[in-house]
Amino acid sequence: MSQPTIESILKEKRTFKPSPEFASKAHIRSWEKYQELYQKASENPSEFWGELAESELEWFEKWDQVLDWSNPPFAKWFVNGKINISHNCLDRHLTTWRRNKAAIIWEGEPGDSRTLTYAQLHREVCQMANVIKQLGVKKGDRVAIYMPMIPESAIAMLACARIGAVHSVVFGGFSAEALRDRLNAAEAKLVITADGGFRKDKTIALKPQVDLALEDNKAPTVDNVLVVERTKEKVHMEAGRDHWWHDLQAGVSAHCPAEPMDSEDMLFVLYTSGSTGKPKGVVHTTGGYNLYAHITSKWIFDLKDDDVYWCTADVGWITGHSYIVYGPLSNGATTVMYEGVPRPSNLGCFWDVVEKYGVNIFYTAPTAIRAFIKMGEHHPNARDLSSLRLLGTVGEPINPEAWMWYHKVIGKEKCPIVDTWWQTETGGVMITALPGATPTKPGSATHPFPGIMADVVDLDGNPVADNQGGYLVVKHPWPGMMRTVYGDPDRFRNTYWEHIAPKDGNYLYFAGDGARRDEDGYFWVMGRVDDVINVSGHRLGTMEVESALVSHPAVAEAAVVGKPDEVKGEDICAFVTLEGGFEPHDDLANQLKAHVVQEIGAIARPAEIRFTDGMPKTRSGKIMRRLLRSLASGQEIAGDTSTLEDRSVLDKLREGA
Ligand code: WT7
Repeated sequence: MSQPTIESILKEKRTFKPSPEFASKAHIRSWEKYQELYQKASENPSEFWGELAESELEWFEKWDQVLDWSNPPFAKWFVNGKINISHNCLDRHLTTWRRNKAAIIWEGEPGDSRTLTYAQLHREVCQMANVIKQLGVKKGDRVAIYMPMIPESAIAMLACARIGAVHSVVFGGFSAEALRDRLNAAEAKLVITADGGFRKDKTIALKPQVDLALEDNKAPTVDNVLVVERTKEKVHMEAGRDHWWHDLQAGVSAHCPAEPMDSEDMLFVLYTSGSTGKPKGVVHTTGGYNLYAHITSKWIFDLKDDDVYWCTADVGWITGHSYIVYGPLSNGATTVMYEGVPRPSNLGCFWDVVEKYGVNIFYTAPTAIRAFIKMGEHHPNARDLSSLRLLGTVGEPINPEAWMWYHKVIGKEKCPIVDTWWQTETGGVMITALPGATPTKPGSATHPFPGIMADVVDLDGNPVADNQGGYLVVKHPWPGMMRTVYGDPDRFRNTYWEHIAPKDGNYLYFAGDGARRDEDGYFWVMGRVDDVINVSGHRLGTMEVESALVSHPAVAEAAVVGKPDEVKGEDICAFVTLEGGFEPHDDLANQLKAHVVQEIGAIARPAEIRFTDGMPKTRSGKIMRRLLRSLASGQEIAGDTSTLEDRSVLDKLREGA
């Protein structure tokens, strides 16, 4: 296992205690309180989660059993409970003063804005739910959402949840091909999209991508497309298939009762990259996910009724699902949605949003923080950031230097920072500080959330010594955990539960990260140990990028590895061998990059293509990626190369570097 950051992190000895002012008002006010909760949850998880489910959520019918783990690794939470997450995010607030509180504050990239109160959001959600029903969608059907960052993306998610349709949000940056794969994998009946969106002072077309994905009946399960008007650019509307949202909204009732769902009914499928093969459809269900998104939002972001909370993620990722939409709204919070990203014409736009809306809680990614550092402190310094009281990060390990910059320049040394480790699969944050309770150390995600039995183990599942690297695992189910891979339960079992073999019926969850725990019990996540690259906090499977490259007629074989990048964390380096008749040149490299963008989307564009005559392979034919990783990052090749089939390949690759 590689240990890329362990050296610099080991030197990190600074600790930051929550201030007494912050702690005295926080939901979880002291280290002792955290320990008490953690101990209680560990001794009796069912009692702990059962009590929270009862006090924090509204159920139509109570469950018979908190956790059914009789068929591991397939867990059931709140068995036979009946609940609807859209009811918990909307209706239950309408009978309180929150009825007229801002639920979503939205800021568009061109400077337009919109605020939806809970009552208004409820109305729009009910209307969209009725429209979706009119379009023939029934409970259990899958609906794809391919949208820019506009309120309608949250409305669409909540509308699906309201009637029991399963949503599958596809990030708006994905290409038509990637969208089509996901439509087919999920057998989606309906696509909800927009004409386009605004990105970096340009428009991006979405509806034309949907048209491409559906052309020649290549996504045959899709009957209808619902289109939200955003950019007002002209788009093709296929009669009988495509419908404008504003047309259908005009004639529809705003009354739509929330369907009582079984706690284990599927809420959504979200596709994410794995180390092999096609993207995995991560399945989350209703009751457990609702509780987990709710309670992690409340305790980690210390949500209070007068807070304005902003998570800068896109709703196309799990962070957007749990911490823009479901978690904050379930708590009756005010959640900010922003369509834009920092761009040359407006490098300070994030700080403008903080100042304009008086944002109190700000949650972003290390890659964004590194970009802010590059842009210079004069951007944040020129704005009033005094409303901020809590900061968070997610997506990859944060370098201690970036943490310190965030702490000083953005937090003015008064805001606690929560570094939250989690994954699409975990549904919500797993390892994190609780801001009023946990002393933080820059670069460490600190401690597991109450009820999360995290550990660092070796391949046999035995805990490793303090400060020794190992596999980050979870030893007991939790309510927000994924339930299966859509349509492929075997893949769920193999991918997450068999890497470290179950012993005596004890299953350990492992999803690809290495970590160590220090002498104070702090977790330091070291990054992926599998073939997954983390580019700007987005997971890309090397296999997917390789498959995209190989689908180009010039490419015989491709091997993709990550190489360090100052801002993105990692970037993609592709080693490529060519078919006979093709010559390596820059034009071809550019064509191959463009081809990957077309197949997957701009996030997967390789930073570098290296042509080679051969790949370093073992005698059994396995590409030795470890060697390619060293070459890509300009490091000396260390470790054993004796299994190489042909050493001259490596020598040539070195010469070419
Ligand atoms: C992978 C999951 C969960 C939402 C964002 C990404 C890495 C995430 C941290 C963190 C170190 C982190 C891990 C993980 N990761 N947060 N705070 N410290 N690493 O979700 O696309 O499912 O990716 O992101 O490697 O396995 P995702």
